[in-house]
Amino acid sequence: MCGVVGYIGSKQAAPILIDGLKRLEYRGYDSAGIAVVCGGKIVSDKEVGRLVNLEKLLEANPLEGVCGIGHTRWATHGVPSRANSHPHFSSDGTISVVHNGIIENYSELRDELMAQGHTFLSETDTEVIPHLIEQALADGAMSPAEALRLTLKKLRGAYALGVLFRDEPQSVYCARLGSPLIIGLGENENFIASDVPAIINRISRAIYLNDGEMAVLKADGVEVCTIDGQPVVPEVKEITFEAEAAEHSGFETFMLKEIHEQPRILRALLTKHVSAEGTIQPPAGLSENYFRKLNRIMIVSCGTAYHAGMYGKLLIENLTGIAVETDLASEFRYRDPKIDPGTLIIPVSQSGETADTLASIRMAKEWGCKIFAICNVEGSSVVRESDSVFFTDCGPEIGVASTKAYTAQQMAFALLALCIATARGDLTPEQLKSYLDDLQEIPDAVHYVIQQKDDIRKIGEKHHDGPSSLYIGRRFNYPTALEGALKNKEISYQHAEGYAAGEMKHGPIALINESLPVICICTKTADEVYEKMLSNVKEVEARSGRIIAVATEGDTELCKLSDDVIYVPEVRDEFSPMVNVAALQLLAYYAARARGTDIDKPRNLAKSVTVE
Ligand code: AGP
Repeated sequence: MCGVVGYIGSKQAAPILIDGLKRLEYRGYDSAGIAVVCGGKIVSDKEVGRLVNLEKLLEANPLEGVCGIGHTRWATHGVPSRANSHPHFSSDGTISVVHNGIIENYSELRDELMAQGHTFLSETDTEVIPHLIEQALADGAMSPAEALRLTLKKLRGAYALGVLFRDEPQSVYCARLGSPLIIGLGENENFIASDVPAIINRISRAIYLNDGEMAVLKADGVEVCTIDGQPVVPEVKEITFEAEAAEHSGFETFMLKEIHEQPRILRALLTKHVSAEGTIQPPAGLSENYFRKLNRIMIVSCGTAYHAGMYGKLLIENLTGIAVETDLASEFRYRDPKIDPGTLIIPVSQSGETADTLASIRMAKEWGCKIFAICNVEGSSVVRESDSVFFTDCGPEIGVASTKAYTAQQMAFALLALCIATARGDLTPEQLKSYLDDLQEIPDAVHYVIQQKDDIRKIGEKHHDGPSSLYIGRRFNYPTALEGALKNKEISYQHAEGYAAGEMKHGPIALINESLPVICICTKTADEVYEKMLSNVKEVEARSGRIIAVATEGDTELCKLSDDVIYVPEVRDEFSPMVNVAALQLLAYYAARARGTDIDKPRNLAKSVTVE
């Protein structure tokens, strides 16, 4: 997904723009560029590949000026190339634009502009924007702001824009519809950025621009209005992210740092949401009475967040008896799921900007449903479009592969399930206390697993080289198997498949051979599930399969059957996924490290998929 930055102040803009783009690298990109207003013209440079390539050009040819915009491009329309890289310009070079999003009607706009004599240098949808602004001025728009407003009214699709005008060397214009854009407020300097981490080191207050709003930034102030020209008094938010959260803090990658942050985050969520008396307050906007009447829940999300939703479904059903359904947001949005206003919709999203999840929320709101989001980013679109929110409070998750947000989402579901069950009388106070006592053990259990990272590293290095791997689990740990497989494939690029272990006989057992690593999540349970998992492991072993087991400390059976075992502390089965997944995160991490991939920025992936 593309990254947008902008600066106006008294410092040289170029270094600030490059620093901001570097902090957005986690979003994924294939080219980058900046533009600066200098000496009565807009100067620019852009290059394909990593930012370091652009930096080399700028070292040889510095761009001087205190007003500029920058962009990292994740190609949607047009191949990665210098010509297609942003910024894009008007015919006369007096207007420059960077853009995150997709202009769906760009083709017809391009045709109209070409009929008016405009020529284009790129294949991108974005390039129509500076030409439309230029044409609006030529047609008599009274000011750059009016020309921009007239242009925005013609666009269909999504945009987060940064715009420079040669004739306004002290101003950066911006606008937002469907793609996030933040205005950072500094001391005699102001910024725009797609996400907080880009400017976290420079600001402590920000404005989260809303859809349909635009703004003009000068060094000493910001003016916000709607694209209809109505002034807006923006809400200024204190930036709650710890500055250090957007730094490596001594770890070799953000992903490894974020894996290590999990025990602290889980502990903090328990401290925040469980009172000293051992009660859990319903989320703001919901109530115990609402929970008592609730009879259906629909959880919608994507990727890792979908696996968290699968876990939430099992837990809520197990504790409350409410019918819970989960669906991939990208599928849900095309269904006719016969949902009535009494259904609680739970979108789960780390970024709060995932297009499919947002589309599902908007659909559900049309049906009159209440929306309770589990999300990590304050001010994000999912947060602003939901009735009630559980913040996972992880701080920025920079690694593209989600780790700390995932276990925090699971903890959110554990707390929600216990809260609903208590409100409905499905749990006595004594039972609630027992569950909460067991939940309090989870952060330390996760910490225990992480302390075994060297042993897990050796296992990852030993089994990383095959063409594929198979992950199997049951019930609460079936989603864990799916998540472990996703982690492995997205950062190590080794194909991996997660499967319900009970399905082995229905097909996957045909895959078993000496070289296929089979990761079996086989931790102790209070019922027959463990024995059934053990049978699955024996089936694999009987066919000379290569077994990596995730087992409970003290288990004496699995080591007889397995090539390698990762031992985890015994915890309540319902909460074991938060512990078991930490082992699989590290297993995938070290497999990827052995394969030499770019772990924080895996190829083709973006941290937040704001396009369909
Ligand atoms: C997670 O490792 C992936 N990067 C991806 O599947 C992600 O979980 C998915 O895109 C959903 O993102 P969200 O949580 O920000 O909505």
